[in-house]
Parts: sequence; C-alpha cells; structure tokens
Amino acid sequence: MDTQNNHRITVCTSCKHKGTTCRPGFELIEKLQAVIIEAGDAIAEDFEISGVACMAGCGRPCTVAYHGSRKATYLFGDIDPAQEVGDLVTFAQQYTHLHDGWCSSVDRPGKLRKSTLSRVPSAMIALETSDVRVS
Ligand code: FES
Repeated sequence: MDTQNNHRITVCTSCKHKGTTCRPGFELIEKLQAVIIEAGDAIAEDFEISGVACMAGCGRPCTVAYHGSRKATYLFGDIDPAQEVGDLVTFAQQYTHLHDGWCSSVDRPGKLRKSTLSRVPSAMIALETSDVRVS
C-alpha cells in the first residue's frame, strides 16, 4: 500500500483469545488484507491495515480500530478473527462513504453493533461543533 491511503484499520497484535496464549492479531491482519483485495473495489486502495501492540481494550480481545482523515475513530472489541472478518470488511465499505465517519450502532454490520468500545469524533468536527472553547 502507498502513502495515499485515506483510511486505516489498526488491529491489536497483543490481544489473546480468552483463556489462551494465542495472539490472533497478525492472522486477522492477513485475513483482512486478503478479503479486501479479493473484494477488488475501491477500499483495497483506500485502506491501510496495520498492527499495534495495544489499544487499551485488553479486557475485550481482539480490538480493531478504524480511523480516517477528518473522520470519527472507532474502537471495536470482542472481535473473533474466525467469525467477524465479513463484518469488518462491510464496515470498511460503509466507513469509506461516511463523510465524517459518524454512524449509529444500528447502522453497523452484525456484531459491530454491540461491540463498539468507543466512537470519537475527529478533531476537526469536535472543534467545529463545540460550544466550549479551551484557550
Ligand atoms: S492487548 Fe489488545 S488492546 Fe491491549
């Protein structure tokens, strides 16, 4: 992938399956890359997928984040790499078309409706809509 990606999916590579020592983050990154490339639409060129050691959602493994320029950031937990790749790819397609990245839980696919740990507005949107200014 080049540096022109507007969106990023970040997968925790330290999360362990509950009750095991298995860390499936790298496997999830490989699966996501393969499915997105196979889908063959614009998301393959627009998304970069990477790993990070921890996103402070350790009690809800695996964690996956979506971020984009001037878009809300999402952190999802309880992601099972064997079950949720389809939902993650569907959300990537959806996220691409949301101008500010904002959507309600009922609009998210499958398990992502109930496994959202945080939804943070972009810095630009937060400043534009805030009534309180900090100097
Ligand atoms: S180990 Fe995965 S979020 Fe902390």
